[in-house]
Amino acid sequence: MAVRIENETFYLETENTLYQMKADCRGVLKHLWYGAKTGQDMEYLLEYPDVAFSGNPYDAGRDRTYSLDTMPLEYAAEGVGDFRLSAVTVRYEDGTSALDLRYESSRIVPGKYSIPGLPAVYADEDEAQTLEICLKDAVSGIRVILKYGVMPECDIITRSAVIENNGGHPVVIDRAHSLCLDIPYGQWEWVHFHGRHLKERTPERRPLFHGVQQSASGRGISSHHQNPTVLLCEEGCTETSGTCIGAALVYSGCFQTQIEYDQLNQTRLVMGSNSERFSWELAPGERFYTPEAVLSMTDAGFETLSHRFHRVIREHICRGKYKRMERPVLLNSWEAAYFDFDEEKLVEIARGAAELGVDMLVMDDGWFGHRDNDEAGLGDWYVNRFKLASGLESLVGRINAMGMDFGIWFEPEMISEDSDLFRAHSEWAIRIPGRDPVRGRYQLVLDISRADVRDYLFEAVSRILNSANIAYVKWDFNRSVSDWYSELLPADRQGEMPHRFVLGLYDLLERLTQAFPDVLFEGCCGGGGRFDAGILYYCPQIWCSDDTDAYERTQIQYGTSFFYPVSSVGSHVSAVPNHQTGRSIPIRSRSVTAMAGSFGYELDVNRLTEEEKEDVKAQIRAFKEYGPLIHNGKYYRLSNPFEEQYAVWEYVSADAGQILVQGMIFRTEPNSVRSLIRLRGLDPQKNYRLREDGSIYSAGALMNAGIPLPKAWGDYVPVEFYLEAIEE
Ligand code: DGJ
Repeated sequence: MAVRIENETFYLETENTLYQMKADCRGVLKHLWYGAKTGQDMEYLLEYPDVAFSGNPYDAGRDRTYSLDTMPLEYAAEGVGDFRLSAVTVRYEDGTSALDLRYESSRIVPGKYSIPGLPAVYADEDEAQTLEICLKDAVSGIRVILKYGVMPECDIITRSAVIENNGGHPVVIDRAHSLCLDIPYGQWEWVHFHGRHLKERTPERRPLFHGVQQSASGRGISSHHQNPTVLLCEEGCTETSGTCIGAALVYSGCFQTQIEYDQLNQTRLVMGSNSERFSWELAPGERFYTPEAVLSMTDAGFETLSHRFHRVIREHICRGKYKRMERPVLLNSWEAAYFDFDEEKLVEIARGAAELGVDMLVMDDGWFGHRDNDEAGLGDWYVNRFKLASGLESLVGRINAMGMDFGIWFEPEMISEDSDLFRAHSEWAIRIPGRDPVRGRYQLVLDISRADVRDYLFEAVSRILNSANIAYVKWDFNRSVSDWYSELLPADRQGEMPHRFVLGLYDLLERLTQAFPDVLFEGCCGGGGRFDAGILYYCPQIWCSDDTDAYERTQIQYGTSFFYPVSSVGSHVSAVPNHQTGRSIPIRSRSVTAMAGSFGYELDVNRLTEEEKEDVKAQIRAFKEYGPLIHNGKYYRLSNPFEEQYAVWEYVSADAGQILVQGMIFRTEPNSVRSLIRLRGLDPQKNYRLREDGSIYSAGALMNAGIPLPKAWGDYVPVEFYLEAIEE
């Protein structure tokens, strides 16, 4: 049994972890433990100091040591004497905000709960159990139902909360986090993933300081700037040792991760939608569902945590036909042609690509409306006949005749002021009445919280997908959202707009992915501005960054790999000099870097030399062979490209029989000895044969001493070793 209840103490057990909480004699739900298995009740950890200025609930009587401000709580609420970060804040009609949550009931349900209208981890009945704990505020009648999805084999616990208004009056929720985790023991450091456009998910690790620290997005998207994932680790935690806790929010909009290190050196983590961009009116009888947070912990370092998140995202969040299928090697037209193409040009690019073994041509931005640059056309999802005179069917037919599939780009949530859609429905664009709207890339955002806007988009996208044999959609989003306002919401409910926008996106994605189950959907947001577990529920891959420079990509993909599996990373070989940095990197190094993802090309292959074309053929053959290992094997970060002169990573098959090491040496140093790379995850009983020269190494030698990197000459030298276990 993954979930056990004994004497109002809740035990959530996975293969390697124990999560424990207890409803005490006053009904306060205390958090006792999240860590390695201990085999016992952890209540002995609780201390009850008499701390002045940390008040006491009335029913504690004369006991000055019982304070909600000092004890570890499972879901902290505002207004009842806990002055730390709260997980939930509710405002009543009289302007007050107290919510005194006390234990009411609990139940264990087989399988994993789902969340209406929101993406969530899913599992078969025998893979998970759900625990529901119902807390109630006696005065208002409000209930909070905490949901825990326990997946023993994956070492994963999911969390989400439901807020139910059982009182007689409407209330406003000002904060409703998915996760609250109190850790009263240990010294923790905080790792978050920050960045900007062209530089996503750079890890940053800092010791906690007293007070509140946060990473958040208020941009309407999870954002390039902060990712909705977080790590807490003990000082000294490395890839392979040390205690760490990870959390990923399954959400694609404004989010907030906050950590408070309090007066007693205790740590509280809260995570959920961004309370600064959120409020929600709850009428009597209504329920509000928070997004889901996915949690894991280990005492074996970051690598183990990453493996767990990779698995749960790949197998229990990604869905559909392409979840396990190898993805097509595609050529995307963006960096090959930008807006400057017509049917003949695309056919020529495709012809060259087909000869080299590329599976699919993707026609990126510029094929619709009057879209000759980024100032016009968004919203007009019909074919631009100046560029594609014979229409989509003819183009797709010609591509298919070469043995290639065809994919297409959309940016459904956007509208250009210079578009037929804007001329007909300017009221569909988000803007504050009486003010000029903020533009981003010249464009405005559609109010997809409106059902009529979503219906239009569903029809428009469906019409195109039904009009030709289209196998793939790239779903882009190229600006941050500001000017939050929806015509359909009353003034006092405008604070609901950011969350309603995300619910609208999920509704549209759900309808379209259900209507077109054979189409591969790839998420995108100016590269990786919406790279999160929420999008991965609908799109099994996401364009990782608009920075296609392979050196830069080693860093971006390194940061991305802490939570997200390689199979979810959209990654292509682009032309040199690179369009974002001007850097020139040899094609083999570009290709091994792009293989750490969905793999494809972002250039006109007809412009390559004959030698480079031969290389491309060999790369595609290699990817076809290694693809299943790359996408389904365990991924190991063998170096830190922010600190070392090389980036090297490794894929290991489930039976540890196949090993692929790839990467890049950034700079050659003269008069030096080669660095040794220690492999991980091998079968210690086996010997391995290196494909390149047939030499044989023991697992012990490869893991303890390592394998020398290739002799380097020049910069950005590719690394690739393939090893197979020898059957003896
Ligand atoms: C941003 C994307 O990340 C690019 O790959 C490309 O699709 C452009 N948008 C097109 O406008």
